[in-house]
Amino acid sequence: MTDSSRRDIFSSAGGDIIANRELVDISHVPALDRIVGRDTEISEVGSALAPGTIGAPPESITIYGKTGTGKSLIARSITCEAVAEAEDNGHRLTYAYVDCSDDDTETQASRAMARAVNEHLGADRDIPMTGYSGSQYREMTWDLLNDHDVDVLITILDEIDLLSDDDILRSLSRAKESGKTDTHIGVISISNKVEYRRELSERVDSSLQDREFVFDPYDAEQLQAILTNRSDAFEDGVLQEGVISLIAAKAAQEHGDARKAVDMLYEAGRIAERKGASEVTEDMVEEAEHRANVNQFKSLISGSVQHVKYLLLALATLTTDSEKEHSQFRTSEIYDLYTTIAEREGYDPLSQNRVLELLDEQAFLGVTENELTSGGRDVERIPFTD
Ligand SMILES: Nc1ncnc2c1ncn2[C@@H]1O[C@H](COP(=O)(O)OP(=O)(O)OP(=O)(O)O)[C@@H](O)[C@H]1O
Ligand SMILES: [Mg+2]
Repeated sequence: MTDSSRRDIFSSAGGDIIANRELVDISHVPALDRIVGRDTEISEVGSALAPGTIGAPPESITIYGKTGTGKSLIARSITCEAVAEAEDNGHRLTYAYVDCSDDDTETQASRAMARAVNEHLGADRDIPMTGYSGSQYREMTWDLLNDHDVDVLITILDEIDLLSDDDILRSLSRAKESGKTDTHIGVISISNKVEYRRELSERVDSSLQDREFVFDPYDAEQLQAILTNRSDAFEDGVLQEGVISLIAAKAAQEHGDARKAVDMLYEAGRIAERKGASEVTEDMVEEAEHRANVNQFKSLISGSVQHVKYLLLALATLTTDSEKEHSQFRTSEIYDLYTTIAEREGYDPLSQNRVLELLDEQAFLGVTENELTSGGRDVERIPFTD
């Protein structure tokens, strides 16, 4: 094979369009100086953690907001800043980030906390993956904190609504008073389900919820600033004027979701690369939006329980069969098809009420749009089948 034909095979890897892929990779957590349009939220979270930076008890907070509004990003970035600030002040603050969508049982979440604390303290202790209970993993955490004279621990419980039980919450709130550790403990709870608020306040001990914040969706201007701040991901001059504002406008129209906006920008760059174009143009944005929708849908499906998959399949089937651009379906129609699919797969269908709740959740995640009409509830089509 000649060099030039090999180059042809790998030509879609690009190089002429995207200069720094990481900056437009949605799994990448950008540095503090890349965070735009969240000054108020940053100072609110900062003031809650501030006492921790001088070795005093931090406030525990809860952050709500729709998907892609910067909750995880800001919680993590400000916590990392707090670690550095405490160190400058001569105090030891450490943290654990627990993603309850990955670690949703009390044992898994406690293990994730122990392992994170172990890693952040550079303790090099053996925290086995199996064979211990949640309370044993927490004991390991308290030991680590005590042995390393840690003044403050911040535990971030992301997607807390997915946590299946409350033991870790209870023990975090009582660890100090029950004499397990001298470390002050603060918890940042995060959820993208505002409707989960009441349930959470019943679940969480009042000592763990000093304050709560709601992050609003980004408007077009903020999204534009976020994207502009990442435009150095591209080679000089390849982003046609108007591309960023078009993507920002589209993302703002939908749900003000920054993750989606960043992904659209990345996909637009990939389209230009695949086409061998020298510029990313405005007419590539529509296809990029479609691809970003597909990406979001795929990640949603892969993280969903079986019944949500059947429900989404029912919606997708109805949408594909429907000829109208903006079809709406009655819940009963969706429920009937969902029931058929679930039964075909050998599962007992959930009740209609439960399915309604799931639909509400999906709507919140930006997949469908629910609308109550006088005749009942309609569900608008999912906008990403071909
Ligand atoms: N203010 C911002 N400045 C720069 N980039 C941002 C900002 N907010 C969000 N982003 C980008 O969007 C991505 C998604 O944000 P984040 O993970 O914080 O969303 P989230 O609110 O936690 O959403 P979810 O509820 O789906 O978990 C981030 O990784 C980042 O790339
Ligand atoms: Mg998040």
